[in-house]
Amino acid sequence: MLNIKFTERSTTRFSSINWDKLGFGKYFADYMFVAKYNNGEWNEGEIIPYGPYEIEPSMMTLHYGQTIFEGLKAYNNFSGGANLFRPIMNARRLNRSAKTLVIPDFPEDKFVQVVKELTYYNREFIPKKKGESLYFRPVLYGSSNILGVQPSDEYTLIVFCSPVASYYEEGLNPVKIKVEENHARTVRGGLGSAKTAANYAASLLAAKEAKQQGFAQVLWLDGVDLSNIDEVGAMNILFVIDGNIITPTLESGTILNGVTRDSVLKIAEWLGISTKEKTISINEIIESLENGTMTEAFGAGTAATISPVGSFYYKNKEFVLNNNQIGEVSQKMYDTLLGMQYGEIKDEFGWIEHISF
Ligand code: COI
Repeated sequence: MLNIKFTERSTTRFSSINWDKLGFGKYFADYMFVAKYNNGEWNEGEIIPYGPYEIEPSMMTLHYGQTIFEGLKAYNNFSGGANLFRPIMNARRLNRSAKTLVIPDFPEDKFVQVVKELTYYNREFIPKKKGESLYFRPVLYGSSNILGVQPSDEYTLIVFCSPVASYYEEGLNPVKIKVEENHARTVRGGLGSAKTAANYAASLLAAKEAKQQGFAQVLWLDGVDLSNIDEVGAMNILFVIDGNIITPTLESGTILNGVTRDSVLKIAEWLGISTKEKTISINEIIESLENGTMTEAFGAGTAATISPVGSFYYKNKEFVLNNNQIGEVSQKMYDTLLGMQYGEIKDEFGWIEHISF
């Protein structure tokens, strides 16, 4: 299984981790993978100790943001080893983002191999508790040192890992979401469907304002006339209306094609819950909140897993869902998804890549 060049470290970072308070993305595991693209090709790359990485001030990504990233997790398998969840989906999405940002593709099978080998070398850093996991952060950026605005000639891919708990402090408790009425994350024809720094930079001011007002996150509307639902930024959004799941379509090109979103839609169909991907106006959402046909809403994302929405705030009004409790469908999705990821229930879809050790 192991064929990537590996350099062992002399000391481990293990004891610097507060395992009772992992939070999200605060601690980093012993090993990372680094590969370089130069003269039109990727080198083999290597697994080396995690640590500071030197760059020059002129490195173009610092200035012009030609960078993309991914997020995926290794889960402790309760009967031994670890489980990766659909890593090929992340490999493919990385390359779709790459196209948008004029970045060269990284071979998809190699991506999956890197994640598998890092899982093995960082196996002590996979948390044992359900709801916690080892989060992988692949980041691929233009690393030429030049100040002209143009695609980089050289690229660097780094994949590093962080033992994490829930993304939101609320965990599985419902979150308060503010419908964003002033700022826009992206527009049609923009970068919205790519996992790239600019989309997250565009979200910071709105998120700061929302946090100050007591909200966990904002719900983005389209950047043209703020009339249709996009996503929550750290997760896709799904609504349960009249017992069916509806979620914004990917066709607008303004939302991320989430692996968890896709998995939830497939699990729902398998459970006999009908699903629809479509353009959803905020008016339709408010109407269904007012007339009670919307019974639940939840976010879905790798970091956030399934995050039930307790209330939406829009035009100075709060709309509480399901008495601020997790709903039946959200709970079922959480149980099924995490059950598969932690090896507690059968993976009916062939999504799990098991790593033995
Ligand atoms: C993920 O769910 O993996 C994300 O990348 C979301 C966020 C932490 C930026």
